[in-house]
Amino acid sequence: MAKATTSTASKKTKKAPKASAAAAAKKAPKKKSARLNGKAPKSAGGRASGKTLFATRGTDFRLEQVISPISPKVFFRSYWEKKPLVINRRNPNYYKELLTLEDIDQVITSMNLPFPEIELTNAKEAISRNQYTRGNNRIDVAKLYDLFANGATVILPHLHRRLPGLAAFCRGMEHDFSMPYQTNIYLTPENAQGFRTHYDTHDVFVLQIAGTKSWRIYNTPVDLPHRGQRFVAEDTPKGEVTQTFKLKPGDMVYIPRGIMHDADAQKQKGTSLHITVGALAYTWTDLMLEAMSTVSLKNSDFRRSLPIGYAKPGYRRTKAKEEFKSLVRKFATSADFEEALDQFADRITAGHRPVLSGQMAQVEQLAALSVKSVIQPRPALIYNMLRGNGQFVISISGKEIAFPSFAGSAVRYALSTKRYRIGDLPGDLDDEGKVTLITRLVREGLVMAGPN
Ligand SMILES: [Fe+2]
Repeated sequence: MAKATTSTASKKTKKAPKASAAAAAKKAPKKKSARLNGKAPKSAGGRASGKTLFATRGTDFRLEQVISPISPKVFFRSYWEKKPLVINRRNPNYYKELLTLEDIDQVITSMNLPFPEIELTNAKEAISRNQYTRGNNRIDVAKLYDLFANGATVILPHLHRRLPGLAAFCRGMEHDFSMPYQTNIYLTPENAQGFRTHYDTHDVFVLQIAGTKSWRIYNTPVDLPHRGQRFVAEDTPKGEVTQTFKLKPGDMVYIPRGIMHDADAQKQKGTSLHITVGALAYTWTDLMLEAMSTVSLKNSDFRRSLPIGYAKPGYRRTKAKEEFKSLVRKFATSADFEEALDQFADRITAGHRPVLSGQMAQVEQLAALSVKSVIQPRPALIYNMLRGNGQFVISISGKEIAFPSFAGSAVRYALSTKRYRIGDLPGDLDDEGKVTLITRLVREGLVMAGPN
């Protein structure tokens, strides 16, 4: 992302000192002061151009669209981490903005993705990568489709790192949930072996793009398994079927982690393409461990060695048990919830990569910006606003962008208002200052200009 180089916004009144270009581009202070707002503002949906360009597809897709017609409120109250939600829409084109069979064919045949960004699997017979790769793990596309025709499933893990539409979709979900998201794509030929009964250690939304599959849900052996409690077939009998349903193009199922499921291989009609969207949730366990780690760094009692010889037969544990209880009490009184949660919020903010679709056109039109230009924030931005040392700082994607504090209200408005004209910016900035400020925000990839 481009570093800020523009001069800072000029000021209409003489109350505040005139800020210099150097001040605007100055690196934010290391020490963070008051967190103004831990939550990202509601972002503007919609595409910048209004056209269905490959680079801008998917930006409209968020949780609301995934679970429609169920509302997010109902979803979080009745389904999230509780039970599966099946949506049958009778709308085969529902996901066409997100992904199509043609897109996947284009990805496989033209993007030159290496193994393991493309993998083949076949439940009926083992496939080695040598059967469909050449040197340097390059995919032999003709061989890949040959194996596909013989029943192999094509898996494209992490395609959200390659396709802007899927990237934008994940960014939107991350914005809505405050947790990382990933996609896995499965392309399965007709009558191929489906996947065996299992549970996942993260919640999934399965979006059926093409073909039809019959699904079964079984009883739940592990309630909300931790990521370390992986499914082991020998240890996990599948129990009785509790729900059956079909997924046709445009349909969706949400399955919480720990719930056993499979898809019926015999009843699959046509080539099946589905996206499994995985929610990589941080849990209370993660938060407690983070808090514990911070307490330990501050208090050497937690860093002392365990009692000498405690593993020997006949070791008397009474004293050690008292010490353990005493440390638990110390942890309970000194654990800092705010600090621990901030660590996770910072992780989400820093790890969240904005999707800068259309940025080339954006920088090209910078010179034409005027107070009449229409502006909107980039969709699904996750950032924090901080204030200190006479500066107003936006922390996003691991970098901090500093503005003079008198521009704070204008920046807040610029990033949280769905659509506005540059002239609408509040605060004391004059017209030239407003255009300068928006120019910088466009360059940083935080807002987009147009359409007017
Ligand atoms: Fe699964």
